[in-house]
Amino acid sequence: MFKDFLASITHNVISLIGTALAVASLVLMACLFAMEQFGFEGGPYIGILTYLILPMLFVIGLLLIPIGALLYRRKLRRLHGDEAMAAMPVFDLNKPATQRWTLIFLGATMLNIVILASATYKGVHYMESTEFCGMACHTVMQPEHTAHQRSPHSRVACAGCHIGPGADWFVKSKLDGAWQLVAVTFDLYPRPVPTPLHELRPARDTCEQCHWPTKHIGDKLRVIKHYKEDEANTELTTALVMKVGGVEGTGGTGIHWHVSPDFEIRYRSDETREEIYEVEMTRADGSVVTYADRKAPEDGGMWRTMDCVDCHNRPSHIYAPAHVEVDRVINEGRVDRSLPFVKREGVRIVDAEYESHEAAREGIREELYAYYNENYPEIASEKANAIAEAAEALGDIYSVNVFPQMNVWWDTYPNHIGHEQSDGCARCHNRRMRTADREQISDDCDTCHLVLAEEEENPDLVTMLQSE
Ligand code: HEC
Ligand code: HEC
Ligand code: HEC
Ligand code: HEC
Ligand code: HEC
Repeated sequence: MFKDFLASITHNVISLIGTALAVASLVLMACLFAMEQFGFEGGPYIGILTYLILPMLFVIGLLLIPIGALLYRRKLRRLHGDEAMAAMPVFDLNKPATQRWTLIFLGATMLNIVILASATYKGVHYMESTEFCGMACHTVMQPEHTAHQRSPHSRVACAGCHIGPGADWFVKSKLDGAWQLVAVTFDLYPRPVPTPLHELRPARDTCEQCHWPTKHIGDKLRVIKHYKEDEANTELTTALVMKVGGVEGTGGTGIHWHVSPDFEIRYRSDETREEIYEVEMTRADGSVVTYADRKAPEDGGMWRTMDCVDCHNRPSHIYAPAHVEVDRVINEGRVDRSLPFVKREGVRIVDAEYESHEAAREGIREELYAYYNENYPEIASEKANAIAEAAEALGDIYSVNVFPQMNVWWDTYPNHIGHEQSDGCARCHNRRMRTADREQISDDCDTCHLVLAEEEENPDLVTMLQSE
């Protein structure tokens, strides 16, 4: 009977192809896996091959073997007439040969299960890796991946915030992921990728796996450097004491009061969450206060419970405005502050549309040289190196904030911390948001921070800090 079986799988093309496919993918899988163990880095595509495509081919190969055998049997039956052969192989465990073959078959099956289980395990892990999420769909995720790499969360995997623990979200993410692969393959995805993410998992299950929401952070000093758009690129200092606060004793204080467990804040807004219509605050004792903007639409929009992401909407994908980025590279010394008007010109030059990162680097360099050649010919020749370095730094900031292929420009993804890049906190903290008794959500400057210095040249405070 097993001779029969062997004949049926070796005499038919389908089973032979199946066997070849299974063996070939197994050997390739083993080689790639071994290469990876020896430290060979092949990039995301090798990972997709090793952990997704090859295991799939292996399974298809294994399935083809019995399918081919059954088809072959049916063909033989048709040729020899019904009586000549039973529909299914006769299986007689009393024969020693059958026993031996059964053991071999069981052994091979176990081995296959082990191989597939490890491949599935590795595959699942691989699909959760930053490498897969960020680079497999390279162009689509390039902005988010690039920003993630330079954020405080660069060591947190994409899945840490976008999937979180638990089986239900795992399955959901795989279903979404399958759709995303289709969207990428057929170029169906929107550019830029829209935000906010309406199906983002609540922060309770993601951020709060690592951050303790009731941690009392207290006051934080923030010193911010800006440079004036004058010939000397004058340095200006802003110093704020941020009242981050947190839970203290029995209640919350300061900015993190919003996430203290004693309160729940819900709000109704448009789809983009940039315009907030109504805010509802529920205290621990169940009493509710409602603030509303009288000019806002009375219904429509969507309700949402406030969590970390309503303020920290850019914990990982941080894009700064052009003038802030130029300030940063001046402050880091990569752009020489002694180049006249370099702040003003830098912002003008990077705040333009170029077709690609390469085109941007070239265009920025040409524009900067042209400006100095025309207006400061001596400086252009004396400080040619500084100009080249500045051009390089400006090209860098363009390449990490602007992604022309994805239509991501300087202002595509505003940050909600503060009130500079977008209304941010002022979406709720404004004069229009009032209760029926006309009480408003506070917008006094010292609700959230003490302003120690605002755009000052050499404030005492800085001298004091530097003398330490
Ligand atoms: C620290 C948490 C965190 C990590 C890590 C993280 N993200 Fe995000 N991601 C967010 C948040 C929060 C948003 C925006 C939420 C909102 O406004 O709705 C977001 C938004 C996005 C968006 C929508 C477009 C946008 O920029 O708003 C994409 C795409 C995305 N993330 C991909 C990734 C990829 C790929 C990785 C890994 C390379 C990653 N994320 C890692 C928290 C994170
Ligand atoms: C896997 C753990 C992990 C998760 C999940 C996580 N974080 Fe963090 N987060 C960290 C660590 C670690 C740091 C400190 C990084 C450092 O200081 O180098 C940090 C830092 C921060 C900071 C301070 C950033 C700064 O500028 O110094 C903020 C704000 C923050 N996280 C918010 C969030 C939010 C919002 C989420 C959810 C969307 C989140 N985190 C999810 C681990 C995590
Ligand atoms: C009402 C808006 C708001 C909400 C909600 C909020 N934060 Fe913050 N958080 C801030 C602001 C503002 C700062 C100060 C940031 C700064 O000025 O750099 C801050 C600072 C932080 C820091 C940095 C503290 C440090 O030591 O530098 C962490 C970490 C953080 N938040 C985590 C969280 C987490 C986790 C949640 C959700 C449980 C959360 N925040 C909810 C506004 C908010
Ligand atoms: C609802 C809270 C809130 C209110 C009210 C508020 N601010 Fe702010 N402000 C912030 C936050 C949050 C930041 C961001 C700090 C950071 O960059 O991390 C900020 C940043 C700033 C900065 C620094 C901007 C920069 O990057 O150079 C200045 C200056 C400032 N605020 C001034 C004011 C003044 C003046 C008022 C009153 C008219 C005011 N703020 C009201 C929350 C608030
Ligand atoms: C969805 C609406 C909403 C947003 C967005 C929002 N807040 Fe608030 N905030 C409230 C409400 C409601 C109160 C309570 C009303 C009050 O005390 O005036 C409040 C109160 C506060 C308080 C006083 C807390 C206390 O001790 O009583 C601070 C500080 C504060 N917010 C800071 C911020 C900062 C900083 C941001 C932006 C990073 C921000 N808020 C964004 C709704 C919001």
